[in-house]
Amino acid sequence: MNNRPINFVLSLADTKAMSQYDTHSVRRLSSMADYYLDQAAFEALLAQDDLILYEVYGIDRPAVSGELISGITVLHAGKVGQEYFMTKGHFHAVLETGEIYYALRGTGMMVMETPEGECSVEPFAAGQVVYVPPCWAHRTINTGNNDLLFFWVCPAAAGHDYGTIAKHGFRKLVMATEEGSTIMANPRWSPR
Ligand code: PA5
Ligand code: NI
Repeated sequence: MNNRPINFVLSLADTKAMSQYDTHSVRRLSSMADYYLDQAAFEALLAQDDLILYEVYGIDRPAVSGELISGITVLHAGKVGQEYFMTKGHFHAVLETGEIYYALRGTGMMVMETPEGECSVEPFAAGQVVYVPPCWAHRTINTGNNDLLFFWVCPAAAGHDYGTIAKHGFRKLVMATEEGSTIMANPRWSPR
């Protein structure tokens, strides 16, 4: 890895979206056991197919102070029971680090919360930017019928703490109801 400027294209039309990347990771349904509220629906869907829920393309940089990493996430459309496909969500391992999200395509929401229990659910559709302040856990949810594609940038040294959310959940869920996308308290959320 050198220290030269990087230039790439974010395409709004192309499925591949990013003209250049170092990493490509794929998250399948099987990697999200226990993340969704409706366990029976999860098992039934998994029995049909281990679907790809989302893919992350990233520009890698050294995990040191001053460096930024960036990339694109493609979050596919679908539901587990009445709950929309979503990212795992995480705090940053270095808690006091923020992140910028910019939605390129699709319709969704971002669910965020602090360790103290402050919550925010923000609309996140094409054209919208969400600033995730330091210390806020963040998850993206695709409430639409097409891919939700977004660009993100954060400090390269931020790292990911998945364990806290995997164990305790987010306080808020977004479910599909007759009224549309509905924010509700997560009945499975547990205090630390
Ligand atoms: O750094 C971020 O917040 C994003 O790049 C996410 O990692 C990405 O959207 C995938 O979500 P998660 O890491 O929660 O699986
Ligand atoms: Ni993050």
